[in-house]
Amino acid sequence: MRVLSGMRPTGKLHLGHYFGVIKNWIKLQQEHETFYMIADWHALTTGYKKTEEIQKNTEEMLTDWLTLGIDPDKSVLFLQSKVKEHAELFLLFSMITPKSWLEWNPTYKDTKYNLLRLTDLSLMFKGGLRDHVKTFLAKLPYRVEDFEALEELLLDNLSDTLIQALFEGYLSKDTLKELNVSKRDFYDTDTYGFLGYPVLQAVDILIYKAQAVPVGEDQLPHVELSREIARRFNNLYGDTFPEPQAMLTETSKLPGTDGRKMSKSYNNAIYFADSKEEVQRKVMGFFTDPQKLRKGDPGRPEICPVFFYHKIFSPSERVEEVERDCKSGRLGCVDCKKLMLEELESFLTPFREKRESFARDRNRLMEIVKLGSERARMIAIQTMEEVRRQIKVG
Ligand code: TRP
Ligand code: SF4
Repeated sequence: MRVLSGMRPTGKLHLGHYFGVIKNWIKLQQEHETFYMIADWHALTTGYKKTEEIQKNTEEMLTDWLTLGIDPDKSVLFLQSKVKEHAELFLLFSMITPKSWLEWNPTYKDTKYNLLRLTDLSLMFKGGLRDHVKTFLAKLPYRVEDFEALEELLLDNLSDTLIQALFEGYLSKDTLKELNVSKRDFYDTDTYGFLGYPVLQAVDILIYKAQAVPVGEDQLPHVELSREIARRFNNLYGDTFPEPQAMLTETSKLPGTDGRKMSKSYNNAIYFADSKEEVQRKVMGFFTDPQKLRKGDPGRPEICPVFFYHKIFSPSERVEEVERDCKSGRLGCVDCKKLMLEELESFLTPFREKRESFARDRNRLMEIVKLGSERARMIAIQTMEEVRRQIKVG
């Protein structure tokens, strides 16, 4: 089976990437024909103002892929921007993709709203409008099956309209100030490319006729959209693209040092590029059970991220011991962290050495993506020949 997945180049990878994504990718490359892509064009959708970081992030990420065991002899590792055929298919797909499919795409709205912290604003507008909408609905001269659903729809649309009005300058400057929103931020993400993000992703998948796409839950709407675009293309021009399946993998959401999900933006991540000292500092600073203030206090391992790490990195007898001694109070958090650090370090050390050797040899890195991108391109070229034949243009 042909499997394809991609990642935007965000730089160094952390433990969360490994347990959430990469470990699975490594397993898949033993069993399937795998394509792993660095989505550097996708990085432009939100990062077009800071393009100088993209190249460096690409190299860092690739270094980690190779370090962790993504094998260029087993998988096609390639750079999106090196396969220009993606751009041509993106243009053709943009002709046949209804705008509404993109505007209703939940990841689009979520990301945009998160980036701009608009969710609060939207909730506030909805709260202020609810009574008015109810009054309006009561006067409606039409028969309605489901008043509640219509009310929600109206509220959603009205609050979107108000947000838009805000940024288009229909609301007063004072209101803008009062709500603490910035017009510039809004226009930064209000681009055609950002809206078209999932169309480009559909291209990534379909141009290789991939059958399966391993992704996290957040990407499901994008895979679904790829299926819809494939269907639409096939209906219009004849069978060309297979419909790709999402491959959901259950992964452990590794906590970061503060107990929240590990993420670069939370500043709670442990990186494969971290030195021994950095890892030590981070581990000793881990969040633990806040009720366990000193050795002797009974703790609750089930809510403690340090214990979560023991479960992953320590042998099972140790895990049982830690659980028991934490609960009884015999084990103090400092000692517990030291034990965990030792196991974590023996996991990280071999990677650290391997990473240094890759990082020293930039030419080797570049050669690997070059060869991978050429292999990818041969397939993309073939698909595009077929696509042009089907569509009878080009
Ligand atoms: N959008 C994906 C993400 O942010 C990255 C991506 C780009 C991707 N192209 C892809 C994933 C193709 C799977 C298939 O995680
Ligand atoms: Fe967490 Fe270990 Fe402290 Fe228990 S003893 S609270 S598991 S760090």
